[in-house]
Amino acid sequence: MAFGHGKVILLGEHSVVHGRPALALAVERGAEVTATAVTGATARAVTTLHIEPWNVDVDTGDEPNLGREPLQQALKVARAFYEDDAREFALQATMRVPSGAGMGSSAALGVAVLRALDDARGITRPEQEIYERSLDWERVFHGNPSGVDNAMATYGGMALFTKGSPLTRVVPRHKVSLVVAYSGSSSSTKLMVDSVARQLAKEPVRMNKAFDAIAAIVRNGQLALETGDFAGLGQLLTLNHKLLSGMMLSTDVLEEMIAAALAAGALGAKVTGAGGGGCMVALVDSPEARAAVSAALQQLGKTVYDVESGA
Ligand code: MEV
Repeated sequence: MAFGHGKVILLGEHSVVHGRPALALAVERGAEVTATAVTGATARAVTTLHIEPWNVDVDTGDEPNLGREPLQQALKVARAFYEDDAREFALQATMRVPSGAGMGSSAALGVAVLRALDDARGITRPEQEIYERSLDWERVFHGNPSGVDNAMATYGGMALFTKGSPLTRVVPRHKVSLVVAYSGSSSSTKLMVDSVARQLAKEPVRMNKAFDAIAAIVRNGQLALETGDFAGLGQLLTLNHKLLSGMMLSTDVLEEMIAAALAAGALGAKVTGAGGGGCMVALVDSPEARAAVSAALQQLGKTVYDVESGA
């Protein structure tokens, strides 16, 4: 079985598209894909992909998969890497992160599909190539991705990511405990990234100031992780959230969730990923605080995911 990690962005989403650094953490849930060779009379000369629990099917045939065109296009991009190989496979995917929720589901799926297509052909490929190929997959969905999602999906762990630079590993002094909760509405990363690009074109001075402030927050966040200053890290999360709200990336529901998490004892909280819906993330410093924050979010009817990093 091939795997791609989901991810949580701790600090720096959106500004990372514009060349600033981001701090992200891969999660142990993501996409799992197996590939089975298709042979015999019933075999179709296309690669197929079935995704559970979404009950979605796409293939690389000429007929459009109505309503699933981006996914079909992404699968064609993945298939095109094996131009000289006529073999076709049936791919079965299981998604363990929600879609459109800021947890990197499309990148996780892309990495797992590419690894499954390699495994089925007996190919072992450097991780860097999986990263590069999955960036092409991500472009189908997001237009102008920074590469942070598919870097985390490929490499796992915790890292500082800057577009066009090698990943810098971040080793926190202590285990990082996060409560991630889904607002209940998905959002389109492409639309949110386009909206920030439009704001940048209209107000370059204000937006670049905000991006630079977030870059400083990210650098301080890395230091806070490495020195174990988690109270400071929490404040940086909340500060980052204020700057993201100023770019119209929050929603009333996310604000309510963040306020509830902070009131229940989180050290800091923010939207994570593209925003406009999707998930928020809260930093907690004890099992008791985790339980209290999770309970507060569940009381609002939200689905909660526990995320922990290794120390
Ligand atoms: C999405 O998970 C993160 C964004 O910064 C987009 C990107 O980096 O490609 C919003």
